[in-house]
Amino acid sequence: MRSFITFVVVFAFLLLGSSLVRAQKADSTDRKWWKEAVVYQLYPRSFKDSDGDGIGDLKGIISKLDYIKSLGVDVVWLNPIYSSPNDDNGYDVSDYRNIMKDFGTMADFDALLKGMHERNIKLVMDLVVNHSSDEHEWFKQSRSSRTSPYREYYHWWNAERGQPPYRYSLFDVKHNAWRYDSLTNAYYLHYFSVKQPDLNWENPKVRHEVYDIMKFWADKGIDGFRLDAFQFAAKDTTFPAFPQGFEKNFTQYYGMQGNLHGYLQEMDKEVLSKYPIMSVAEGAGNTFEDAHNLVDTSRHELNMAYAFDAVDIAKPEGYSLLKFKNVFSRWDSAFAANGWLSVFLANHDQARMVSRFGNDSPQYRDLSSKMLTTFIMTMRGTPYYYNGDELGMTNAGFTKIEDYRDVQTLNEYKRQKSIGADLPQYLKRIGFESRDNGRTPFQWNNTTNAGFTKGTPWIAVNANYKTINAAAQEKSPASTLNYFKKVVKLRKDNLVLVYGKYTLLDASNPDTYSYTRELNGKKLLIMLNFRDKIANAQTGINVSNAKVLIGNYENPSKNGTLKPYEAVVYEL
Ligand code: GLC
Repeated sequence: MRSFITFVVVFAFLLLGSSLVRAQKADSTDRKWWKEAVVYQLYPRSFKDSDGDGIGDLKGIISKLDYIKSLGVDVVWLNPIYSSPNDDNGYDVSDYRNIMKDFGTMADFDALLKGMHERNIKLVMDLVVNHSSDEHEWFKQSRSSRTSPYREYYHWWNAERGQPPYRYSLFDVKHNAWRYDSLTNAYYLHYFSVKQPDLNWENPKVRHEVYDIMKFWADKGIDGFRLDAFQFAAKDTTFPAFPQGFEKNFTQYYGMQGNLHGYLQEMDKEVLSKYPIMSVAEGAGNTFEDAHNLVDTSRHELNMAYAFDAVDIAKPEGYSLLKFKNVFSRWDSAFAANGWLSVFLANHDQARMVSRFGNDSPQYRDLSSKMLTTFIMTMRGTPYYYNGDELGMTNAGFTKIEDYRDVQTLNEYKRQKSIGADLPQYLKRIGFESRDNGRTPFQWNNTTNAGFTKGTPWIAVNANYKTINAAAQEKSPASTLNYFKKVVKLRKDNLVLVYGKYTLLDASNPDTYSYTRELNGKKLLIMLNFRDKIANAQTGINVSNAKVLIGNYENPSKNGTLKPYEAVVYEL
């Protein structure tokens, strides 16, 4: 009897223990390499051209791996490099198992991956499967006849049913996501450009094609996937009418629909769970609940959410720091116990970080870049840092439509023209927010074309490359670049910056952003001035004797009075 009781007690303890372990596993302090990593986003078209055709390529990236290593980052997220007719710079894939000719060959890719792994840098690939290119074999087959075995790979609406209910397209000249195709007298759906037909995720054949593609790359040894526009992938294929004006808030109608979570769970079962890789989806739905449903560990979907609330705040007329603090604080608290976030202020779909959130004037560009970098690297969540921001690269300064290359910017221009809109006003707007602002060639040095290419660059180099470039900044200890390296190292040396509890201080201060991060008895205070004037922060913490871990001025503030764009990290 006694041994039976002992058995029951031991068994109960084991059960309790395992559920505690499980509870701890779901906890956001559960250590994972992808939480501790700093992700460097690399836009291959604009990084480094090795063959003089004016377009960045894989060999170019290989030649710069030591530079990437010198940054101290752990992961590179590479924008799409698959075969593509380049309607949307590679986000229109015509062959998922091949490399775009402009970028090189599969042998170059293998060498790149090897070179990265030799340097302990992981590679995350973009997976673009909400849509393919209209030049993909699947689509060619699909549009060839109504009875093609590939017909159901895409969304078709036969014209004898009348006009399909309106769907908004982000990149279409007429904002219309249905395109009539006379070959089979039917409309196909494209949420993005007319050359990016949406794949039919409701078709299990499509899903399994995608899982096979993912296995192909995972078997090559890549370390993760970023799922492009994936929140839009599932659709109600009855295509009900949406209320008029729905497009003003289209993610509410397009995001996280139907069986999206079911597809992600299937993807996890078929692919993600079988490899030691990370996953992050672009977009996180409309609510915290949506975002949690994507990433809560127990659901076996994805690792990290990537939400846009913060980057959407910046406007040409400026932005409210109170709003900015509020967004980041709300997202942090919603994920404090479970789930994991990305932290970023720029990417290839945004204009430059310093031009939108900082101050790109010669006087404050360096200081405000450093301040924003300090912010990104001291928040909870995995930092995603966009190439060139470590130099404080700025918006392009384009003034005419001919300077632009981006399908979204150009098609919207055509539309504005067709409706008789104020074109100078539109040019002003895109000068601030066009995606091309973040896509100008990387500024390596002060030689022709910033050392990016020996040919004619596919998009103009920013005229400021003579003063803003990597070679000059490598030589100067106080440069934006060297500060970036230091703050990355600070994050790597202080686990508190990854997992520590975040507490906002002095919340109503409209000029400064202050917060603490705490873990296992270690407490850091971060103070940031977002203004071009002196500002006082009321944190209630006396920093006169605190140790300064990093700051962007030679003499960091010791009394809560912050110089223009000052950033300081204290250990308390
Ligand atoms: C995502 C990409 C963007 C692309 C779009 C369509 O938003 O980040 O660059 O244009 O999807 O693939």
